[in-house]
Amino acid sequence: MTLYYRTKILGTGLYYPQKIVTNDDLARSIDTSDQWITERTGIKKRRISSTKGGEFPTDMALNASLIALKNANLSPNDIDCIIFATFTPDYRLPSCATILQTKLGITNGCAAMDISAACSGFLYALNTANSFIQTGMMKKILIIGSEMLSREVDWSDRGVCILFGDGCGVAVVGRNEDPNDKSEILSTKLGADGTGREFLYQTYGGSVNPITPEIAASKERYLTMNGKEMFKVAVRTLTDISLAALNSAGLKGIEDIDWFVPHQANIRILEATANRLNINPNKVVINIEDYANTSAATIPTAFHQAVSDGRIKRGQLILLSAFGGGLTSASTVLRY
Ligand code: COA
Repeated sequence: MTLYYRTKILGTGLYYPQKIVTNDDLARSIDTSDQWITERTGIKKRRISSTKGGEFPTDMALNASLIALKNANLSPNDIDCIIFATFTPDYRLPSCATILQTKLGITNGCAAMDISAACSGFLYALNTANSFIQTGMMKKILIIGSEMLSREVDWSDRGVCILFGDGCGVAVVGRNEDPNDKSEILSTKLGADGTGREFLYQTYGGSVNPITPEIAASKERYLTMNGKEMFKVAVRTLTDISLAALNSAGLKGIEDIDWFVPHQANIRILEATANRLNINPNKVVINIEDYANTSAATIPTAFHQAVSDGRIKRGQLILLSAFGGGLTSASTVLRY
């Protein structure tokens, strides 16, 4: 028999910026309407971080982490590792994880690293943490999905800017040593298809094309997306990777799942995926209407909201699935 430790979600938290931007607000500066955005995406509003400070990705992560640690009944120095998923970090160097370590006042020298897997980032972080815990290498890990997409989108590009928002979700995971406690991560699937890189990308800001004064002043540095292709890939990928995770969790079928928490990209993507998976729409956790697509933050924020309002309960079976730029994809089945 293979010996491994079980991983349990010990606590969750979130932070959203104070500023709310509605579709009507956007319609005042670009050629769009609340009706168009609502019908095509399900989004009504989004939160936007202050650029003056206090709401950058590690600031949001500090607030959300303190809530998650409190819910887990732990102190910052109990943490063995910080895994921070983002593609909109505070800086290129140092990593957000190391910045957060000092903001949390952690003095135990814990490991700290960032993960770049776009919208699948939180599940990549969760599954990396799961591996560290299963092997016995670590006991308690703080995982974060925090994004400030408002800095990376062109607010005059109506095909892109309407979709995104800022926010942060956090989970503390740890070794479950109680044989009577059934909480554990049951299966994980991670994937990627680099051939789809041209559907969502940023040309400038890396080593190949650094940001020059000309680029900084132009719109070319912002996110570029092929919405139609992303839509198609999203439904297919979310369905396939979810089925793979369900299969390897050894469940009887989708009816065993109590809650499906998918990456929140577009309500029509979620509905089409739920339909293909044949899951009851009432079991799908959705928060896109109020917060839009916050990339790596969508799953941990939606999860935390559903735990906080009592929808997700201990002992229930949860399916988490994501896809994103890269293209990356990930799915996890867990007993909460
Ligand atoms: N308001 C009003 N009209 C808009 C608009 C907006 N915000 N954005 C685009 N349009 C217009 C287009 O110009 C086009 O007009 P035309 O027919 O005169 O050329 C028309 O609406 C249809 O545009 P199209 O791009 O075909 O719309 P769509 O139904 O594909 O919806 C998205 C666009 C972006 C909402 C949709 O493709 C989508 O959500 N894709 C997935 C994106 C995604 O999930 N990305 C993140 C992945 S992690």
